[in-house]
Amino acid sequence: MENVENMQTIKIAIDGPAGAGKTTISKELARFFGFLYVDTGAMYRAVALKAIRNHINLNDEDTITDMLETTSVNLKSTADGGYQVLLDDEDVSSLIRTLDIATAASQVATIQSVRIKLVEFQRKIAATDNVIMDGRDIGSYVLPHANIKIFLTATIEDRAVRRFKELQERGSATTFEQVKRDIKFRDKNDSSRAFAPLMVARDAMVVDTSDNSLDTSIELLKEIIREKLYELLYGAEANA
Ligand code: CDP
Repeated sequence: MENVENMQTIKIAIDGPAGAGKTTISKELARFFGFLYVDTGAMYRAVALKAIRNHINLNDEDTITDMLETTSVNLKSTADGGYQVLLDDEDVSSLIRTLDIATAASQVATIQSVRIKLVEFQRKIAATDNVIMDGRDIGSYVLPHANIKIFLTATIEDRAVRRFKELQERGSATTFEQVKRDIKFRDKNDSSRAFAPLMVARDAMVVDTSDNSLDTSIELLKEIIREKLYELLYGAEANA
């Protein structure tokens, strides 16, 4: 078993469909364990925002690929422990949290050149920091050797209710039906795309958050991760 001196960075992958609680849970886990939180969905959302601003058809692979040559997407940590999403150095953190951008992100995320560029960036971050990275393809494609892989899920009804509440808190006028439609669209689109689709990695632990509050799920995951980290650092026998 590796010990702490010769171990590379620790990588925790959290995947799952929209509204399963990935972001809220991952942020808290990252704060608790002192890891860097990497929100890969925000990167796809930022690319979608730029395409929309430039009036590019979201299925137009060639034009979007060209656009990427002059596009930078970054996550910048802030003093309060949060992060800003920077698109060409502009803070777009709030602008990307709309239903339209979520739908558009799912469309641009089917384009291979978009995924290749963002995945390269995501792997670079994970090479230098201990990360909790959330997304759709982290355990299956971005970080296939992640030390811990969790797949968070919940019923469509529960996920839609959660997302609807979040959007209401942000002052959005979106209806529950619109939210549910977007989630259904993205579930199908994200799972059926050819390149790096949403899937449960072979060695991932599936956690269903339907019957639990997010707080209960966070406590459960802290326990799971704590045990795994202990094993990684000190060997399985130390935990017996
Ligand atoms: O927060 P929510 O789960 O609703 O979405 P998100 O994580 O911000 O991701 C927005 C969209 O980006 C998803 O519907 C996916 O189409 C895409 N995405 C992806 O393809 N791969 C990732 N690793 C993360 C997001």
